[in-house]
Amino acid sequence: MQYDQHLVAKPWSDYELLDSGENMKLERFGDVVVARPETQALWSTRRPELWQTAHAVFASGDKRGAWQTTAPVPETWPLGWRDVRFTARLTGFKHTGIFPEQEPNWEWLSARLGHARKQPGRPEGGDPRTFSQHAPGANVLNLFGYTGIASLVAAQAGAFVTHVDASKQSLDWAHDNARLSQIPEDRIRWILDDALAFVKREVRRGAIYDGIILDPPAFGRGAKGEAWKIEESLAALLRELAKILAPMSGSFMLLNGYAAGYAARSFAQAVESAFPSVEGECGELLIRESGSSRTLPAGIYVRFVR
Ligand SMILES: C[S@@+](CC[C@H](N)C(=O)[O-])C[C@H]1O[C@@H](n2cnc3c(N)ncnc32)[C@H](O)[C@@H]1O
Repeated sequence: MQYDQHLVAKPWSDYELLDSGENMKLERFGDVVVARPETQALWSTRRPELWQTAHAVFASGDKRGAWQTTAPVPETWPLGWRDVRFTARLTGFKHTGIFPEQEPNWEWLSARLGHARKQPGRPEGGDPRTFSQHAPGANVLNLFGYTGIASLVAAQAGAFVTHVDASKQSLDWAHDNARLSQIPEDRIRWILDDALAFVKREVRRGAIYDGIILDPPAFGRGAKGEAWKIEESLAALLRELAKILAPMSGSFMLLNGYAAGYAARSFAQAVESAFPSVEGECGELLIRESGSSRTLPAGIYVRFVR
């Protein structure tokens, strides 16, 4: 495993980190500028004059925070990354539906799967669970898929995707994003389920995937209320995933983490326990501030290709 291979998300037309500091970050999502709490930002802001341009500020109160708008913000608004389209919205948990630090991972995913771009559709009679045995074109599993950007990137690069999330609201948002991106309906299976329960069923069914992406939260709930606690559940999930990742060379896994406070090395060593022979890389996911070399630590990742 190669450690400390940090990945830096650069600004793109629909996103930039404008400034950060004093436990806050100032970002532009399309035409909307938002200021949100950011515990990593222990430093001083660089461009104090810019903060007045924020359309919305997430103010943390004693209990839960709330958005305060100083200019009209639509309920949802469209954004894009390359050919993928998705909507942003101000959610009650200070999120916007996009984790921009994932940009280098989208790039990697797109490049890995790019060779399959010309696949016209699922092969006739092809079972999606064993697609890799029927034709070129990867069969990708995205767990904890949230608003689905990684699923859309994979599908646009030619993969058939199984997207799993325990929240109906997130699943509907992801499906809407797929329609906005004009991804054919047969490219993505939408599964409302607990990630671990679904993977255990896939093991029993003998499913095989060419690529697995997962972005588990520190704590979560399955579709039937199953508790997800990263300190207990991650190792169990990785052990099950080792049974459904295709053994052939070229198959891949991408594990993301954020907010749980774990070091990339901890995630990497958990991956190595479940997949002992793999050679991969891990590190921090950073977002570069526009017009500066300063970067904001926003998460961790581990990835490997067999
Ligand atoms: C950290 S976000 C994923 C971020 C996303 N992959 C991205 O890059 O934009 C966590 C997601 O996991 C889902 N979730 C939480 N617990 C779950 C569980 N036990 N099984 C499946 N999904 C779960 C939540 O509904 C949420 O959509």
